[in-house]
Amino acid sequence: MYICICKGIKESDVRELGQAGITCPKKLAESLGLDDKKNCCGRCIKNISKFVALAEEEASCQHSPMMS
Ligand code: FES
Repeated sequence: MYICICKGIKESDVRELGQAGITCPKKLAESLGLDDKKNCCGRCIKNISKFVALAEEEASCQHSPMMS
């Protein structure tokens, strides 16, 4: 599912970044090209917290303690 029309970003793209440990707003914005003021409507950078929540959700899954 696309979550950013301007950049063609899918939910899975954000989840992949979360899996790679990228969860901070600045790094997510850079990685997804949301800091590109010329080619973005600006909606997604204003709602970066939603991207962070998605990435963190995925990151926390990766760091779940293993069962022994
Ligand atoms: S829809 Fe994401 S920046 Fe425009």
